[in-house]
Amino acid sequence: MCGIVGYIGEEQAAPFLLNGLSKLEYRGYDSAGVAVYDNELHVVKSKGRLSVLDGILQGGKALPGTVGIGHTRWATHGAPSDVNSHPQVSDGGKFAVVHNGIIENYLELKNHLIRRGVEFVSDTDTEVVAQLLEYYYRNDVLDAVQKVIRRVEGSYALGIICADCPEKIFAVRKDSPLIVGAGQGENFIASDIPAILSKTRDIYRLQDKEIAVLERDNIAFFNEEREPIEKQLERVEWDVDAAEKGGFEHFMMKEICEQPEALRKTISPRIKENKVVLDDISLTAEQLRDVSRVFIVACGTSYHVGVVAKYAFEKLLKIPLEVDVASEFRYRDPILDEHTLVIIISQSGETADTLAALRMAKKSGARVLSIVNVVGSTIANESDDVLYTWAGPEIAVASTKAYSTQLAVIYLIVLYMAQELGVLSDKERKEYLDDLQRLPDLAESCLADKEKIQYFASRYFNAGDMYFIGRNVDYAASLEASLKLKEISYIHSEAYTGGELKHGPISLIEDGTLVIAICTYDRLFDKMMSNVKEVKARGAVVLGITTHDREEAFRQEGDFRFCIPKITDFMLPSLSILPLQLFAYYCASMKGCDIDKPRNLAKSVTVE
Ligand code: M6R
Repeated sequence: MCGIVGYIGEEQAAPFLLNGLSKLEYRGYDSAGVAVYDNELHVVKSKGRLSVLDGILQGGKALPGTVGIGHTRWATHGAPSDVNSHPQVSDGGKFAVVHNGIIENYLELKNHLIRRGVEFVSDTDTEVVAQLLEYYYRNDVLDAVQKVIRRVEGSYALGIICADCPEKIFAVRKDSPLIVGAGQGENFIASDIPAILSKTRDIYRLQDKEIAVLERDNIAFFNEEREPIEKQLERVEWDVDAAEKGGFEHFMMKEICEQPEALRKTISPRIKENKVVLDDISLTAEQLRDVSRVFIVACGTSYHVGVVAKYAFEKLLKIPLEVDVASEFRYRDPILDEHTLVIIISQSGETADTLAALRMAKKSGARVLSIVNVVGSTIANESDDVLYTWAGPEIAVASTKAYSTQLAVIYLIVLYMAQELGVLSDKERKEYLDDLQRLPDLAESCLADKEKIQYFASRYFNAGDMYFIGRNVDYAASLEASLKLKEISYIHSEAYTGGELKHGPISLIEDGTLVIAICTYDRLFDKMMSNVKEVKARGAVVLGITTHDREEAFRQEGDFRFCIPKITDFMLPSLSILPLQLFAYYCASMKGCDIDKPRNLAKSVTVE
């Protein structure tokens, strides 16, 4: 959500800023702007796509200068408009500020400044930061930054330039990601690595309230007391291609196709000699034996992984597991203590509600294990243990390979716990592990049949509503399939358990309504066939996702089928979701939707 980029060096800043912002488009935005210093501060910003700003700036040529900051804004305070876009500039014109996050006490601060004669031009909370900086400024920018972070409450990643101090960029963050890139004679700030990867692989990750002061040949770090601090340089190992489309039309399709490989990377290093080896966590067998209750807390797609996990945990481990969306969990009174294990799932590792839930869990004495994709993210840093998904950067707003790899980590955790708690025989454990190791190849086989799904999408992409039904793990997969479809194709869809249909939703079924029935869970196949009959009797057209061995049985009831290989029950969603990710993609593509950046959505939801 919102993207920040900053440059100080010998080259022209604006072309780099525009390029860097384009790499952050996936975060979601509705306006963009840059501020570049060239004898004075020049600010250009505009509502709409980055291409609009790019046009105004003629690719950056129209704005000379070698120091600058840029921003893509996702509106929170004040509608998307030129004036509400960032950078926001202080009344006296000395400070330009880009901001990601929310200043929660902005109104109180704004009123305070207005009473002192400061004039505001925008509706944003960010302008308060720019105005406060100038208000506190006494020829010492660092001092002003320090005072501002003492006054503001909420979350922020800030990039700041000052007309009196044009050879420096100031950066600070709290609860919102910000990295500093180190180059040769040039340095950078950014919300995320892809923005600066064309220039450097050497980065520092700012922690809460750490301040960075960037010059062309130097980067200095301070804590909030202004004491100099040392920070560890990190080398980004993944390839720049991982953050590019690599010949695909959309990141989403690229990431769908990357799933088999991502699964291999997540699974294979963690299985050795028929045992799950989780070197990266410190949870001992004794601590595991002490766990009396497990919570999984997450948002969106990551939450849907938790719904699958519940079936796996309770079936194999017989430990009660509650799954909750983070925005609910943090405001209820869950029963947490030192015997509770809280598993936090987040692709970005920065989701505000999930982070708040993590902090609440830790405060209560529970042990927190997180499953995260972005290395070094806040959730990863604050957890007792982290298992990374190693999916590589996920750029498309719609999560695909994160879902698959998060599921794989869940299977690893369940099998690891089963092994440490001794609840499976060696034979059983081997069978589960064999299936887990087959998963990448099986996923590849499911993705090989894209044309079938493309054809099906071509018949139904104009539908107004669709319904997904399933039972047990198939219901869990239905939730994710429905979210995928609605978020990128804007087709209204709902997911229901097969058994709930007759308690209300069946009244929505009429002639021609499309129902997608996931029927891979063998134990309840016959029950699902009854549900398929029920909706067909009301006129529905039914597409079934089922296993190869059930193809014939399904053919007798449904209209269309897509078959997947058989695998351990709780791993089925890893395969059944694949054709449905493709289905969502093709429907969105045929409708001409902005697949990688669906309306109103952001990749990383860093505000509540
Ligand atoms: O980064 P996180 O996994 O914490 O993000 C959680 C959700 O915002 C995310 O999964 C969202 O639902 C995606 N758009 C789903 O495709």
